[in-house]
Amino acid sequence: MSDEIKKGLLGIVVDETEVSKVMPEINSLTYRGYAAQDLCAKCKFEEVAYLILNGELPNKKQLKNFENQERKERKLSKTLIEDIKKFPKKAHPMDVARTVVSIMGLEDKDTKDNSHKANMLKVMRIFAKTPVALAAFYRSRKGKKIISPKKKLSFSENFFHMCFGKIPQKEIVKAFDVSLILYAEHSFNVSTFTARTITSSLSDIHGAITGAIASLKGPLHGGANEEVMHMINKIKKPENAFKWINNALDKKDVVMGFGHRVYKSGDSRVPTMREYFGKVAKIKKDKKFEKIYDIVEKVMIERKNIHPNVDYPTGPTYHLMGFDTDFFTPIFVISRITGWSAHIIEQYAANKLIRPLASYKGNQHRKVIQLNQR
Ligand code: CMC
Repeated sequence: MSDEIKKGLLGIVVDETEVSKVMPEINSLTYRGYAAQDLCAKCKFEEVAYLILNGELPNKKQLKNFENQERKERKLSKTLIEDIKKFPKKAHPMDVARTVVSIMGLEDKDTKDNSHKANMLKVMRIFAKTPVALAAFYRSRKGKKIISPKKKLSFSENFFHMCFGKIPQKEIVKAFDVSLILYAEHSFNVSTFTARTITSSLSDIHGAITGAIASLKGPLHGGANEEVMHMINKIKKPENAFKWINNALDKKDVVMGFGHRVYKSGDSRVPTMREYFGKVAKIKKDKKFEKIYDIVEKVMIERKNIHPNVDYPTGPTYHLMGFDTDFFTPIFVISRITGWSAHIIEQYAANKLIRPLASYKGNQHRKVIQLNQR
């Protein structure tokens, strides 16, 4: 047994997966063998969700059934709606996401059943209900009336409808759909590994997804899209961007939305998301954000050779779509539920308890001295 410590499990291969493949050497990402960019161009999010969960792209009938099931499961229990209305208005929506999935676990009649059949049913319920619960909080914290989901709307259209009471033009909905496709799955990242670790003790799917959400919240992972927007807001205008980013690098600050554990010469998801960010900015007649984006990116590459990750373009895109900044990572959640679930199911199918070792560097064996003598 090697005593070498690989902090952060750097470079360690811990298991096999059939869900996705990250290929930094050719800057590519495939879901079940299909390039993510190709899926963005030719599919809507529901097709990709089906692919990730079932291993194959659906035919028309399979897609219709999948969509019908998702739409049927959108309704929240009265208790959950009442709970959401009582949540503190200042609660972070990621904490709300974590809490509502946990509550769904209390309500689900199959929580204790970890069979494949029950897990697929639970996945569909979590997938369908989480966006509805988040949108309900989006409105209730502003003192606005909660808007019920509509069965005739697609996953993305319905999310806009429930948050804003209206659906934007189809190019905006497509950009949102593309962001969901790009966020859906990314192999053994920290939240997915968290979900697999929880599953490895044969715990249940609600617990695994609740843990994954907590992991995604952190700014080194999904929370980065929110931080990107805070950075852009601090920069304020393009004229400030060059000085701001150089100052940040002089101070050795970590710049959010840049860098990646696996991709070292660019995140394969960025070119597609950057293109859709441009489309949304054009529709919204905004030039400021793109200018700031380009200046910061140029300096990061020139000075540090560190490239943007997917959270860099999604941040300003969601802002231009009208979402509150603290809802950016919850949007990541509603998509990544698919990837997490596929990994949880894969983990159950070939489980081995995840239990690494640690090299102990604390005190050597000591004798306990009685309290009255210490
Ligand atoms: N800004 C400034 N310096 C950076 C950055 C950054 N964003 N990323 C890496 N570096 C530097 C880092 O300081 C270190 O320098 P040195 O060797 O001089 O100490 C070097 O690059 C290697 O970085 P690392 O942190 O050891 O690399 P890692 O693989 O452990 O970290 C990371 C990857 C994503 C945690 C890191 O790049 C980071 O903190 N990025 C900002 C947060 C972020 O955008 N996260 C989103 C990740 S991808 C999408 C997602 O999961 O949501």
